[in-house]
Amino acid sequence: MNYQNTLQFARELDSKDPLKHFREMFYIPLMFGKECIYFTGNSLGLQAKRTQDYVVDELEDWASLGVEGHLHARNPWLPYHEIFPKQLSKIVGCLPHEVVVMNSLTVNLHLLLVSFYRPTKQRYKIICEAKAFPSDQYAFETQAKYHGFDPADAVIEVSPREGEYAIRTEDILSTIKQHGDSVAVVLFSGVNYYTGQLFDIKTITEAAHSVGAYAGFDLAHAAGNVELHMHDWDADFACWCSYKYLNSGPGAVGGIYIHEKHVTNKDLPRFAGWWGSTKETRFKMEKGFEAIPTAEGWQLSNAPVLAMAAHKASLDVFEEAGIDQLHKKRRSLSGYLHYVLNDINSRQAEKLMEIITPSNENERGCQVSMLMLKRGTEIFNELTRQGVLADWREPNVIRIAPVPLYNSFEDVYRFGEIINNIIK
Ligand SMILES: Cc1ncc(COP(=O)(O)O)c(C=O)c1O
Repeated sequence: MNYQNTLQFARELDSKDPLKHFREMFYIPLMFGKECIYFTGNSLGLQAKRTQDYVVDELEDWASLGVEGHLHARNPWLPYHEIFPKQLSKIVGCLPHEVVVMNSLTVNLHLLLVSFYRPTKQRYKIICEAKAFPSDQYAFETQAKYHGFDPADAVIEVSPREGEYAIRTEDILSTIKQHGDSVAVVLFSGVNYYTGQLFDIKTITEAAHSVGAYAGFDLAHAAGNVELHMHDWDADFACWCSYKYLNSGPGAVGGIYIHEKHVTNKDLPRFAGWWGSTKETRFKMEKGFEAIPTAEGWQLSNAPVLAMAAHKASLDVFEEAGIDQLHKKRRSLSGYLHYVLNDINSRQAEKLMEIITPSNENERGCQVSMLMLKRGTEIFNELTRQGVLADWREPNVIRIAPVPLYNSFEDVYRFGEIINNIIK
């Protein structure tokens, strides 16, 4: 598309946007008495206005039915989690029985590693990206220690090359090959939280499998953001949170994907709880765990319905918008943001920022990370004073994420205009 850095052009794109009315379905926080430019959907997605009603429905049913709500609430609580697989499978790109909503992200990462990180003396390494989100780093480190390995030897990080920010796929592949049959698990983000780089999940999975390792992914910054085809790409397992692009509220309930070929394997080791045991015998309260032969077999506990009601509200909005439409708008919105930022840079005698997110639209999602080469904190603080909610990451990166459900092209134009005014 031939973009222009003008208000008129941005408004024209908004007027043609088939998803424009979705913005009205969300609460946009106010700053200094007016709607802010909310560019932190990669951190905490906004609240859909219907969320309150969904949660209040469950509170009402609890008030009027008490324990009977498990069977007789409008959405009975006992099978409440069964609402999600159909919608989520479209977002994650998998079969409904490969997905389940439960717990939160780091808990799920550990539970999946219990099943898929089964190190032996010979095969014990975890290959991951350098500077993965700290919680993931701690999970890898403590999993290695738990199994009696030295993390310095067992956790292999792939870094960007000197002077680069994104990690080259070829370097990931050569690292996997180099460590060969000592690799137990290859575990990458879908989208890296800092740079916004989208990894090539299909190619990484193939490489992991070629050395006999499992391939798992942390989709925290990918679910609800980028196109995913986890089943077709043959990924073994994945987990994500729902408070970022999935707009399900602070600390929202997370989700996992496990490939079909593993969910039916009842012998795969796991830490079990009663909610993962066959539904037919669950309430007989007898000895002997019998795994449900779907991703549900990894559940431990009964459904946290109030949190799940917020998740349901959000996924219903996704369903109405349509995942393909969202991806289409996301591409043009982030393309416009890149254009506006490059335009600002090109007008400076000395570059103001380095965009460390890949410029290739197939290697990124909504997020753009700007490495500020000068006046970083001043610009960030001034952006905040002028009603932009962005995110600052040490030492000098501003992360912003225009989200197709509630951000507009005008938001992007205004953001650029504010930066322009600051540097003038
Ligand atoms: C990539 C990634 N992994 C893990 C986490 C930790 O998530 P939680 O606190 O829900 O376990 C986050 C949180 O933002 C994240 O972005």
